[in-house]
Amino acid sequence: MSDFAELSVEGKKYQLPIVEGTEAEKAIDINKLRDESGYITIDSGYKNTGATKSAITFLDGEKGILNYRGYSIEDLAAKATFLEVAYLLIYGELPTTEQYAEFEGAIRRHTIVNEGVRTIFEGFPVNSHPMATLSSLVSSLSAFYPDSYEGKDNSDRHIIRLLAKLPTIASWSYKRAMGHPMNYPKNDLDYCSNFLHMMFSLPVEKYEVDPVVASALNTLLILHADHEQNCSTSTVRLVGSSQANLYSSISAGISALWGPLHGGANQEVIEMLEAIKADGGDVSKYIEMAKNAKTTGFRLFGFGHRVYKNFDPRAKIIKKAADEVLAKLGVNDPVLEIAKGLEEAALNDEYFIARKLYPNVDFYSGIIYRALGIPTNMFTVMFAIGRLPGWIAQWKEMRATKEPIGRPRQIYTGATLREFVSIENR
Ligand code: SDX
Repeated sequence: MSDFAELSVEGKKYQLPIVEGTEAEKAIDINKLRDESGYITIDSGYKNTGATKSAITFLDGEKGILNYRGYSIEDLAAKATFLEVAYLLIYGELPTTEQYAEFEGAIRRHTIVNEGVRTIFEGFPVNSHPMATLSSLVSSLSAFYPDSYEGKDNSDRHIIRLLAKLPTIASWSYKRAMGHPMNYPKNDLDYCSNFLHMMFSLPVEKYEVDPVVASALNTLLILHADHEQNCSTSTVRLVGSSQANLYSSISAGISALWGPLHGGANQEVIEMLEAIKADGGDVSKYIEMAKNAKTTGFRLFGFGHRVYKNFDPRAKIIKKAADEVLAKLGVNDPVLEIAKGLEEAALNDEYFIARKLYPNVDFYSGIIYRALGIPTNMFTVMFAIGRLPGWIAQWKEMRATKEPIGRPRQIYTGATLREFVSIENR
């Protein structure tokens, strides 16, 4: 393979270096393109543009492969705890027994959130969307921990604080919406059990965490933990590239995730399935509506992906887990059958086949969250809790490799130079 790509423009030829990754992915390095040719490239939505080199997550969209630091998502989802995966993503290796005890132990001892943050939370309207409060309160943590932006590199302490406190903050939204007293974390519970305790226990009766529910939550969080340079992760890296502190960078990522085309899709999927059920459950009608999106404005949420042009491996795992968890919990959710019917119809329809549209991670996840008792408007919060270690790992990598501040170029298409006209003459 040649080490260079040759670009010929305006009669001149330019040699552009080829970059190859450890999984044989190839890129044309255009770092010197503008200096040498005066040209930039343009690529709306960055569909063909790599923003960085990264050693954290590898995706193969054609083969449906997802690996975290070389370990397959199938292996990790079946055998690891979420905090083992968090450690792997952030520090690059699976933890030893001692490393895990120290990491998990530190997280257990930082789950309490400063009561001042709670005061801020109580200023929000009771029916605030949990993603609005989550992104705001995570940003507010930088005010409570000013050493996060005073130049010292003590990010490990802030990494522990974020991983420990996000579930606590997330549970507040649910308890307040229910009119229930908020729960303090319990340091004798593991990560997933502690979140379930904070969400569902009540002072009037003993709450026992169902191991089936805790295990399903562990799997779901692992499946969401990282996904290379998606919209919210790219946001975290871009904000962090200005030397903004970790809390502000993660808060920006939470805001980006909220969008219905990204992490907000899991809430949209359940609302879409409920609408189809309420409308009689005729999936073929909605398949036709999706195919005529330009006139119907209807989009099949939970379908399609920028990278996966084959199945999303996470969707396969979640679909199987949905059957298992609902059976174990004795939950019969009619929207699961509607989801399967929709998938079946779409996978056999030329419109979806031609556009390589398959169920993505958001298509089945909401069905499990709902069976676990998580309210619909908290589905994207669950995505954020899962994605947090990935965001942290990517931010840490960007800082460690001292990447320059992110500042894309543009092609200007506005008015050319013109004289100012005073208001009386306009
Ligand atoms: C996540 O990037 C990541 O890794 C994200 C994520 C992660 O872990 O971080 O995997 C999580 O965000 C998953 C995606 C969740 N979003 C949805 O489920 C929303 C529905 N899907 C889409 O809007 C869409 O598929 C995207 C946003 C996911 C991808 O959009 P692209 O790559 O920009 O593709 P596109 O919008 O240009 O669509 C290509 C064609 C279009 O048709 P034509 O104009 O060529 O005729 O496919 C059609 C689209 O209209 N299409 C759909 C469709 N998604 C795309 N048609 C019907 N239903 C859909 N869901």
